[in-house]
Amino acid sequence: MAEVTRRIGLSLGADLCWPICFEEILKRLNLAIPFAGDTLRFEVERVTIEPFDLRQPVRYDVVLDRLTHWYHTSREWIKKAVVMDDLYVLNNPWSIQANEKHTSYAAMMRLGLPVPDTWLLPPKEYEPTADLQVTLDRYAKLFDLADVGAAVGYPQFIKPFDGGAWVGVSKISNQKELLEAYDGSGKRIMHLQKAVDPFDLFVRAVGVGPQVHLMKYDPAAPLHDRYKVAFDFVDAEEWQTMANMCLTINAFFGWDFNSCEALRQNGVFFPIDFANACPDSQVTSLHYHFPWLVKAKLKWALFVAATKRKMRKNLDWEPFCEIAATDAPFAEKLSRYARIAHQRFESDRFVEFCATHLAHIDEVTWEFFGTSAAKEAVRRKVEALFPAHEVEQFTEHFWGLIQFWRRTEAEYLKASRERPRE
Ligand SMILES: Nc1ncnc2c1ncn2[C@@H]1O[C@H](COP(=O)(O)OP(=O)(O)O)[C@@H](O)[C@H]1O
Ligand SMILES: [Mg+2]
Repeated sequence: MAEVTRRIGLSLGADLCWPICFEEILKRLNLAIPFAGDTLRFEVERVTIEPFDLRQPVRYDVVLDRLTHWYHTSREWIKKAVVMDDLYVLNNPWSIQANEKHTSYAAMMRLGLPVPDTWLLPPKEYEPTADLQVTLDRYAKLFDLADVGAAVGYPQFIKPFDGGAWVGVSKISNQKELLEAYDGSGKRIMHLQKAVDPFDLFVRAVGVGPQVHLMKYDPAAPLHDRYKVAFDFVDAEEWQTMANMCLTINAFFGWDFNSCEALRQNGVFFPIDFANACPDSQVTSLHYHFPWLVKAKLKWALFVAATKRKMRKNLDWEPFCEIAATDAPFAEKLSRYARIAHQRFESDRFVEFCATHLAHIDEVTWEFFGTSAAKEAVRRKVEALFPAHEVEQFTEHFWGLIQFWRRTEAEYLKASRERPRE
């Protein structure tokens, strides 16, 4: 029986807190997993940025990537590593590059998800290019923006077709505001989307492989207080609907790690932003929910690295489209999409793997989040984002919420231990 090391790479930018926690918990797990005749050990390393030979082999079995969407040297290294060396990466770089928010709306509409009515507008201004004028003269139809605004209906949102981080997003209540917002949109291609207004609940579902966590969200709160510490804000059926929508879109686009936003109106969840394939992972926004995310990433990375799970390089949308084309009611279609997602994410095998090889991860994570090393990770992130005079106060704030997580987690673990086995 050989001892084999599996390597997890972290491709990072401004991330500070979760990598420290990820590395520390992995160390404390002290894993030696018997697998396929070998004993697996695990190491985690931070991926560096440097010139690379396309034929140079890759050290990693899995890379958790946080740069692809904006730092293209890393993206191109990852692409070569997937094509040439079978690297498994969260997330599929081609799918992030090509499938922006716009494609995710189209996909969800095709699958029958109730995306609010959405129109795409040609941009207000252009970068001058050789063929631009002749193309516009010949084919750009003059349009009356007021007609499009009326067709979408007020209130509505104007937002970039490929947006993120709320950049360029405005709520529009009438024609005058629409004309002003479009005039100010410059060279961006914008969507007009009917507002879900009013809504009685804003939910974010974050998915990591087959794992889904639901959070109540308040978009109007200050940044550090948008994710709520709330329980029982959805019933079991609603939880399943949101989880299934999240898993469906993640499997459809090959995103192992994504956050999905939906607004509830009259009991229906309307997806408004399901294309966040590099979701917020910082303790300064996630606070109470942060330990869940760190643990979920670690479990999925370990599963992928240990089993040498193969990355799906081509997306294969057909099985989803075949279900979409049936006459089945939406609820049934959604469970069938979710079944494909579970197959693609190997949910059963993952659960079994965690039960067999990572049985102590809950305890180890719980203990770690009570240590000074964990508190230091929180402090470092706070120092990076807050003015000096607020560092102490906000470190204690986020730390307090993590300690509250430890209380609820301890109760949950106790209850799980006492629950009779089926
Ligand atoms: N159709 C909509 N109905 C209601 N609120 C919306 C709608 N679209 C966007 N919003 C609000 O604007 C915010 C930013 O829009 P979103 O599509 O999530 O863009 P981004 O990709 O920049 O996060 C959302 O979190 C939500 O608060
Ligand atoms: Mg959003």
